[in-house]
Amino acid sequence: MKFIPLQSADATPWTDAVSSKDGLPVRESGSWIYEKHRNLVYFSTIFATSMKPTAYKPGWPHRIYLELFSGPGKCLVRETGQEEDGSPLKVIDHEFTRFIFIDMNTAAARALEQRLASHPNADKVEIWNGDCAEAIQRLTIERGALTFAFIDPTGISQVPFHLIQTLRRKTRCDLLINFQHAMGIKRNMHQYTPDSDSDCALTQFLGNESWKALLGRAPKEFFLEYLALYRARLAETGFVHSNNQVMINMNNRTPLYLLLFASGHPRGQEFWDKAVSGSDPQLGLGI
Ligand SMILES: C[S@@+](CC[C@H](N)C(=O)[O-])C[C@H]1O[C@@H](n2cnc3c(N)ncnc32)[C@H](O)[C@@H]1O
Repeated sequence: MKFIPLQSADATPWTDAVSSKDGLPVRESGSWIYEKHRNLVYFSTIFATSMKPTAYKPGWPHRIYLELFSGPGKCLVRETGQEEDGSPLKVIDHEFTRFIFIDMNTAAARALEQRLASHPNADKVEIWNGDCAEAIQRLTIERGALTFAFIDPTGISQVPFHLIQTLRRKTRCDLLINFQHAMGIKRNMHQYTPDSDSDCALTQFLGNESWKALLGRAPKEFFLEYLALYRARLAETGFVHSNNQVMINMNNRTPLYLLLFASGHPRGQEFWDKAVSGSDPQLGLGI
């Protein structure tokens, strides 16, 4: 396993919860992580297995899993006090040839390193400790690789659109984006005005100010139209397939975020559609 410290790493000591099992940092979360991880695991299984070379098809010899906000590898579910695997531990058994995990927080990145150290796929793992924008700039991805990038921030400001464009330039990839609905957009709507500057989160995330034409709409309509603008930006960048998003709700059914899938290829969309319906006959295990 490689651990790559970057200048942008945040070495603030961990003050959140730690695991009662291994004493390492855990991320507190709501029980909606089950739905998030279920979709992630379904898609990863189909992607990594179907794209593998076999005696009958050339496939893709390099199948990369790239996670931009990986966390420490364990979550603590608030409602139950139950510890669950975080996304890196959910995907590590799958048939990718390289796993790249990025997290800015040093305590989280080091905890993930320890949790993966004895896994049989540990030699395929790189942990980049720093801002994902710096890591993506510095990453080298082999030619002819097919990448699945999971982008799971806590707010839209962490994912400026140039990150998506850089990813697209660097590798042929499918994306799964946690598109913040409640926290990222609706709750902060009052902050957004025609005078909002170019650093504001909606402009950074979309990569332009076209959202300003939506000001004055009701929150739900604003969100849906903003999503349509974002999908159009993805399409301009080459991710022309982005249907069948999944809404993740809080326990009281209030929408929290969308899982937005995007691919440049109809096959990617087909895989995502299967993952969402859980209809692939190879699936159903390990979630
Ligand atoms: C929602 S958590 C990740 C949860 C994880 N994907 C899972 O499902 O188990 C977000 C993580 O992003 C990290 N983070 C926040 N800003 C970042 C940035 N700019 N670059 C890289 N990591 C960042 C935080 O330290 C945190 O661990």
